[in-house]
Amino acid sequence: MRRRGRSDWATQTPTWRQARPALIDDALKRACARPSGNWFVVGASRDVRTGGHPCGRTVGGTEVVLWRSETGELRAGPGACPHLGAPLRESRVVCGTLVCHWHGLALDGGPFAGWEPFPVHDDGVLVWVRLDAVGGEEPSERPVVPERPAPGGGVDAVFTAVGRCEPQDVVANRLDPWHGSWFHPYSFVDLTVARPPLGDEDDAFVVDVSFRVTGRLVVPVRAEFTAPEPRTVVMRITEGEGSTSVVETHATPLTAEGAARPRTAVVEAVVAASGRRGFALARAAAPVLRP
Ligand code: FES
Repeated sequence: MRRRGRSDWATQTPTWRQARPALIDDALKRACARPSGNWFVVGASRDVRTGGHPCGRTVGGTEVVLWRSETGELRAGPGACPHLGAPLRESRVVCGTLVCHWHGLALDGGPFAGWEPFPVHDDGVLVWVRLDAVGGEEPSERPVVPERPAPGGGVDAVFTAVGRCEPQDVVANRLDPWHGSWFHPYSFVDLTVARPPLGDEDDAFVVDVSFRVTGRLVVPVRAEFTAPEPRTVVMRITEGEGSTSVVETHATPLTAEGAARPRTAVVEAVVAASGRRGFALARAAAPVLRP
């Protein structure tokens, strides 16, 4: 961490002049060409609680309901009851079984009366659902989960916002590092692109940037931006404080393809690691401090 001299937003180095739209476009095309296996991030793992209420999500115009069994296993399937179409997100989970609140039909997560479960994956931070009709790709057994700090070695937080755009707009935005210190000056300063992507073999934007902690206190790091699949961009700190920490951006379409007013959920997952004394304490305390 270092103390930085006072500077004005308008007088910072005009890095936006270095932005190269063709390079961003090429990186986006390569990202879109990678397989996703039809997996979509739907939220934080801890949002679907054992013994809690079911969660309702919409992905590409498809309603999805998620809940956990008594032993904590994830269940997912269409959001409408197979009897008369009740919204299952408003139902209750009784002993790990989803019980429709209209006429009491019980779903244990297996196929029933035309209701077919969706494959679901809990990576410990995020929940993914596989929707083959929405993705339209060759399905895969597991989603492309980014490499993260060693299990138990990080603290994670997940935040979701919704934008009026397509998932590719979100990915293109994240693959444009030049805009960082102009549009997000409360988070980033002194951002320079040390190396653009070199193509499929080495497809990372390498940046030197300082994270603003408070006022003039900043943490300088080197980070890489990569897109391991069409709807995910990962920023990984490779040198400096918090090395191996990641910030993942997952863009999940809410509306069906071709919608006149597309909407996309932007799910940001931060998994932070640090060698500093005190971080281990913070990591241990995180579960009881979270709301
Ligand atoms: S609509 Fe669900 S049981 Fe009738």
